Amino acid sequence: MTTTQSTSTTLPVISGDVAFVTGAASGFGLFLSQELVSRGASVIMVDINEEGCKKAATDINKDADKIVAIAVKVDTTCFEDQLAAYELGKKAFGRVDYFFANAGIPERFWLPLFDPASASSRPITKPDMTTLDVNLNGQLNTAALAFQVFERQEPNPRSGFRGKLIITSSIIGFWPCKGVPLYSTSKAGVVHFMRSMARYYADKGITVNLSEYFCCDVSS
Ligand SMILES: NC(=O)c1ccc[n+]([C@@H]2O[C@H](COP(=O)([O-])OP(=O)(O)OC[C@H]3O[C@@H](n4cnc5c(N)ncnc54)[C@H](O)[C@@H]3O)[C@@H](O)[C@H]2O)c1
Repeated sequence: MTTTQSTSTTLPVISGDVAFVTGAASGFGLFLSQELVSRGASVIMVDINEEGCKKAATDINKDADKIVAIAVKVDTTCFEDQLAAYELGKKAFGRVDYFFANAGIPERFWLPLFDPASASSRPITKPDMTTLDVNLNGQLNTAALAFQVFERQEPNPRSGFRGKLIITSSIIGFWPCKGVPLYSTSKAGVVHFMRSMARYYADKGITVNLSEYFCCDVSS
């Protein structure tokens, strides 16, 4: 792969490549979109926050003085939303080299808090699985889209890869935090998903990687 030298790290050349970033309206997804564009890539920015995503893409395009980013409203738990965003992106930029399955939410309590004193006066309730829906199923929807897109497109002539999938996990995917069961489960789930699929696609011109962050005290 051709490389370019930055001040401290050797970074791969991505100029002319195209990325699909979920959760691109804020946080890591926004920073990632800005960084990709600053290095010459174009970005399909998708987020459930339509207004924030559109504003971010507009700002990026203004800075670049050309259309290098498009924003599409997507709920990642809906595969059809992601497919429609990909179709729009393909029309605008031709192909997708990188899918970043990044959109995620913090733990949403799946059960009422433990309180034996009041429990018998409350009905037994269905668990709220939203954290798992977004952080696991939403990311697997992105992965399912990525693999099928990569399978249908020729390898990038410069890099030789059909495409690369990068999934956002967390340090909590390796060391679960007390009291965040669905967040921990979802982040561990994508670790094993990556381990399984990276091997399956290793000889097919497709890479599967994981990024992880650390933000809380996992010793408790
Ligand atoms: N911030 C941290 O310290 C930290 C630590 C470990 C892992 N992470 C992970 O990093 C990723 C990004 O987190 P962040 O800190 O940038 O958070 P953030 O809240 O700033 O950004 C997440 C984005 O995802 C979007 N989103 C949420 N649900 C969505 C859905 N169903 N469909 C489409 N978009 C949706 C939100 O609108 C938001 O713009 C997440 O997967 C998160 O779990 C973050």
